[in-house]
Amino acid sequence: MSIRFSVNGFPYEVQAADYAPDTTLNAFLRQHLHLTATKYMCLEGGCGSCVCVIRRRHPVTQEVQSRAANSCLTLLNTCDDAEIMTDEGLGNQQSGYHPIQKRLAQMNGTQCGYCSPGFVMNMYGLLEQHRGQVSMSQVEDAFGGNLCRCTGYRPILDAMKSFAVDSTIEVPPECVDIEDSFELLCPRTGQACKGSCSRPPLADHDDSHWYWPKSLAELFSALGQVGNGDRYILVAGNTAHGVYRRPRDIRHFIDVNMVPELRQTSIEADHLLLGGNVTLTDAMQLFLLAAKRPGFEYCNQLWRHFNLIANVPVRNNGTLAGNISIKKQHSEFPSDVFITFEALDVHVLVYDNPSTQRVMTLLSYLADTSPKLVLGGFILKAYPKDRFLFSSYKILPRAQNVHAYVNAGFLIEWQNIQRRIVHSARICFGNIRPDYVHDDELEQLLPGKDLYDPATVAQIFQQLPASLQPEERPPEASPEYRQILACSLLYKFLLATAPKDRVRERFRSGGLLLERPLSSGNQSFETIKKNYPVTQPVLKLEGLIQCSGEASYMNDLLTSSNAVYCAFVTAKRVGASIEQIDPSAALQCKGVVAFYSARDIPGVNNFLTVTVQTPEVDELFAAGQVKYYDQPLGVIAALSQDVAVYAATLVVVTYARDQRRIFTNINQVLAEKENDRIKLLGKEEKHLPKSPPLAPGDVMGRGILELESQYHFTMEPQTTIVVPLDNIFQVYCATQWMDGTQGAIAHMLGVSVNSIQLNVKRVGGGYGAKVTRCNPVACAAALVASKLKRPARFVQTIESMMESNGKRWACRSDYEFRVRANGSIIMLTNNYYEDAGCNLNESVVDFLTLPALRNVYNLTDSNFRARGSAIVTDAPSSTWCRAPGSAEGIAMTETAMEHIAFSSQLDPADVRLVNLQPGSKMVQLLPRFLATTEYRKRREQINLFNTQNRWRKRGLGLALMSFPLNTSIAYTYPVTVAIYHEDGSVVISHGGIEIGQGVNTKAAQVAAFVLGVPLEQVRVEASNTVSGANSMLTANSMTSEMIGLAVRKACDTLNKRLEPLKQRLGSQATWLQVLQAAYLESVFLIATESYKLGDIPNYNIFGLSLTEVELDILTGNHLIRRVDILEDAGESLNPLIDVGQVEGAFVMGLGYYLTELLIYDRQTGRILTNRTWNYHPPGAKDIPIDFRIELLQKNPNPVGFMRSKATGEPALCLAVGVLFAMQHAIQSARADAGLPREWVRLGAPTTPETVVLNSGSQVEAFALQ
Ligand SMILES: Cc1cc2nc3c(=O)[nH]c(=O)nc-3n(C[C@H](O)[C@H](O)[C@H](O)COP(=O)(O)OP(=O)(O)OC[C@H]3O[C@@H](n4cnc5c(N)ncnc54)[C@H](O)[C@@H]3O)c2cc1C
Ligand code: FES
Ligand code: FES
Repeated sequence: MSIRFSVNGFPYEVQAADYAPDTTLNAFLRQHLHLTATKYMCLEGGCGSCVCVIRRRHPVTQEVQSRAANSCLTLLNTCDDAEIMTDEGLGNQQSGYHPIQKRLAQMNGTQCGYCSPGFVMNMYGLLEQHRGQVSMSQVEDAFGGNLCRCTGYRPILDAMKSFAVDSTIEVPPECVDIEDSFELLCPRTGQACKGSCSRPPLADHDDSHWYWPKSLAELFSALGQVGNGDRYILVAGNTAHGVYRRPRDIRHFIDVNMVPELRQTSIEADHLLLGGNVTLTDAMQLFLLAAKRPGFEYCNQLWRHFNLIANVPVRNNGTLAGNISIKKQHSEFPSDVFITFEALDVHVLVYDNPSTQRVMTLLSYLADTSPKLVLGGFILKAYPKDRFLFSSYKILPRAQNVHAYVNAGFLIEWQNIQRRIVHSARICFGNIRPDYVHDDELEQLLPGKDLYDPATVAQIFQQLPASLQPEERPPEASPEYRQILACSLLYKFLLATAPKDRVRERFRSGGLLLERPLSSGNQSFETIKKNYPVTQPVLKLEGLIQCSGEASYMNDLLTSSNAVYCAFVTAKRVGASIEQIDPSAALQCKGVVAFYSARDIPGVNNFLTVTVQTPEVDELFAAGQVKYYDQPLGVIAALSQDVAVYAATLVVVTYARDQRRIFTNINQVLAEKENDRIKLLGKEEKHLPKSPPLAPGDVMGRGILELESQYHFTMEPQTTIVVPLDNIFQVYCATQWMDGTQGAIAHMLGVSVNSIQLNVKRVGGGYGAKVTRCNPVACAAALVASKLKRPARFVQTIESMMESNGKRWACRSDYEFRVRANGSIIMLTNNYYEDAGCNLNESVVDFLTLPALRNVYNLTDSNFRARGSAIVTDAPSSTWCRAPGSAEGIAMTETAMEHIAFSSQLDPADVRLVNLQPGSKMVQLLPRFLATTEYRKRREQINLFNTQNRWRKRGLGLALMSFPLNTSIAYTYPVTVAIYHEDGSVVISHGGIEIGQGVNTKAAQVAAFVLGVPLEQVRVEASNTVSGANSMLTANSMTSEMIGLAVRKACDTLNKRLEPLKQRLGSQATWLQVLQAAYLESVFLIATESYKLGDIPNYNIFGLSLTEVELDILTGNHLIRRVDILEDAGESLNPLIDVGQVEGAFVMGLGYYLTELLIYDRQTGRILTNRTWNYHPPGAKDIPIDFRIELLQKNPNPVGFMRSKATGEPALCLAVGVLFAMQHAIQSARADAGLPREWVRLGAPTTPETVVLNSGSQVEAFALQ
């Protein structure tokens, strides 16, 4: 069977038998067509980097539907007759850019740019689907499945909302053109692309079969081919693979997308019919239509609920039957389709053969074990609204694109139209226990009862907790929370539906869910014209090519077809010694080429170079005792990534019986007094002078702050491609530190450093993850390439990255304070502990946390003592993560300030005011900030709001920062600037890495300014280890300044060389004339200079934030209503880039403090949150609703490069204010609940579970009056 489809308008025909049956569209686009604008990261529908648009004809309506789709989940063989659009098809430099690409770039919506093509294509799909008629709120809703770790989303949303019909967004004049026409030209022939460059397909000789039935009869005929015991799958959207990985032994793939019987829909007077494989998006469209008909008003609620399932591309392709089938196969799956349909008593049409259909209840379908059942359709009854009441709920850990903590559906049938007495009830809860759906006891209790009668309500909430017994199933939320949450949902339902006079005024808002209005932002900064283009808000140099997908990342590099793909084999028994590794089963697997372990390493088994920061060996492959769960112990090389990943699981490891007790976190080490694991590192061990006797009014207190770890979540995975060339290795590695990676590979291979040459064009997000933790992948790929003498590609899967790579240092601070009645500190002590993982490399304890602790306060040797220890645990060695150590240090002191204010019953701003370091810039900044943000007035308003609302609470949190920028490890950053005499254009190559922070743009701005040429004439080339030899790491926010300084030095040198010529030719001579004369006189037009240690001394960056939140105390969900940030960026080199850095860092901090929960199995040390399915960085609707950024003006940094300051990391520290806002809100709820006034320990992350469990809600006390 051949499959015919088009990509960007060009036809393709492929033989299905030539491709592995589970080849995805993503693999085909990237590996066979070399269309690399479509990226990938998670391969499970959770990140959006792979989104493209698919147009196909609907088998029933014959209408061509255009929908965004996750190419990582779409199987190639389901693309027959489809038209596929990728970012390349939208526009490019040669043919002109598409308006979406342009606006995203020109409205500052890219940083590292790895996510950008996915955003562009999702928007393109949305516009096509709705024929351009989309509203701003539709746009804001549509990006739940597109994650961006860099930007903080605000500029992306602005760019996308500007296409809405009701847009109020101002668009830069360069963007307001009509769609440019363009033609795709072949880079090889210069002709229109004929689509003939595809590589010959990879033959797959296994015995799997694909079928493309066009009717139910054909579908059953295909099923007839499936032998007894053979595994088969009905392929609809194939999105279930994003939830539970498909088994590998499936032999029969039956594409059901073109079976009309399974795609039909109809609206009848008494029921709706939805074919089994109607997509969730189509179902939602039908709900909107049906909701206008009597009896189907409840469909509005169904639409709202479905709008929270997965994300737009998944809903566009995922189907109802696919969803219910997941539930059938995995009873614990918290299906939203199931819970809502079961509450509505939806029946299903089931086919055993094409001519026999049965109508069954959903539950009986789930229990039916007959083989080869086809779910043909869903029958939704009419429920006249005078007789029935329906509602449903889904509570998630973040705003969108997460499965439910708990979901619920309630259907009440009234005895009569007075709507008081219950005739029957269906009360369903999901994600409690696999065997629990209906609350039978309540369903029996309610008939005949007045639903809103106080006695009924009391009975409900006495009874319900007993029957709701959630099972413990980490990483799902705790049973305790899920139990309260389920009860709260029913309570919410009662509050929302009871007649107004039966609900106490203060309780009413508890019946509502938090409603998020459209978000907006405001940015203010100054520019200094005389320095232009420095300080000018110019766009990122690479913005447009990032948005069009022309910007290439390491994995976009083509290699010859004999390249191999790699995957780690990992150890599973912590503390045990590896006795034997048997790779024979893996090596027998088709497509596997080799396996290598520690014994194959020719040089040193260490993926790090030895430096002051990394003194200890970090083994590339475990050789003796296993240090942590999933420690790599070898690498598989295979012909495809899928095979490599699978084969890695087949390697058998035998461990010696010397297993020991393991320690996986700080608290366990402290509780069990494992003193060998506690390494005192913080040097500040001053003994406090004896404090004066306690005076009247003095306050004492103590507390603990715990901040868990954070996964960096770069959108570009850890990636390295190693190509043996001549007798050296060309290494294309996504690294933030070429020198470190180069040295590590050379030492590991035992070869000279000059035989390892790196080339790094750009990196798709770093945040510290790619300083040293890119090296395991780089070294393993280099080992494979050197052994096999062929190119090796290693792209780590998300599971592998989360399991095996080090993350942020978790920490705990035990603090004690004693203050005067006005809050001024008499004594503050802080014993803090930071989780090093299995060794002390990249310690933050004394190097980064200690200097941050005094923050902006008058903390001196006479009133402050800090003691820091690293704790060694059985986990991957912790590493630097955006604002490493300093974010934690500042959070510790800010928390102490809040606690002091709480204990002294003072306003937190006043406590800070009395404790400020005299003479510090903050003495002026804080009062000004309090005034401009109307702090005091808003606090009063919030307190009033809190007294008027029992279940909704607001809070305001202030955070101050003095971020210590430490330049003491910045030894050298080389830069080469060359001028071409032919046209006067300028090129720069530097030793820093463009990771999205805009170093290239800033370098070009500096060169343009110093040389006096237009910015358009300056390019920045890829970094490499020749002109960038020995360069220090790109980290610590400082690289842009260092590189800028080195560029200025190089340009000054060039100017000096050109000066005599300029003098001679006179002021009338053009730049080109000067250069041509220089060329003829042999003036050397290349200058190489370097930043050197001490060029920029250490300095501090000041910042303030004020965060306002609103909490739903019944669910724990929150809205961030407003955030104001004032940050000191000196004379910003590029305010657009710097505002972007501030927004992005702050939102990454919001993730750290609110949503990013890592859960481990404490017995084995295994991480349980290793996917987008269960780890949740913020999405587009988690950002502040009103986000105001100001870069402090008239504020030159006397010691900074061109009076600027760094911006990459500091704002992350300001996000701690959200914890204080939460504390403010929770305290009000606790007071209402009658709890004693006590400080609540909130740390990172403070999830909805933390909120609910600390707010004192008692289910038994839930009442309407
Ligand atoms: C990132 C992500 C987030 C998600 N979030 C949620 C969420 O919040 N809530 C939620 O409820 N779901 C969620 N889902 C699940 C999603 O709804 C399902 O993946 C989707 O509905 C499955 O449909 P499909 O057509 O892609 O099924 P496929 O993957 O094509 O098939 C899945 C299974 O269904 C069987 N099947 C398909 N059609 C039929 C049929 N007609 N008769 C019998 N068997 C059939 C197949 O044999 C296969 O075993 C999420 C999924 C992803 C990827
Ligand atoms: S790679 Fe497809 S959604 Fe992440
Ligand atoms: S710009 Fe979005 S992930 Fe980097």
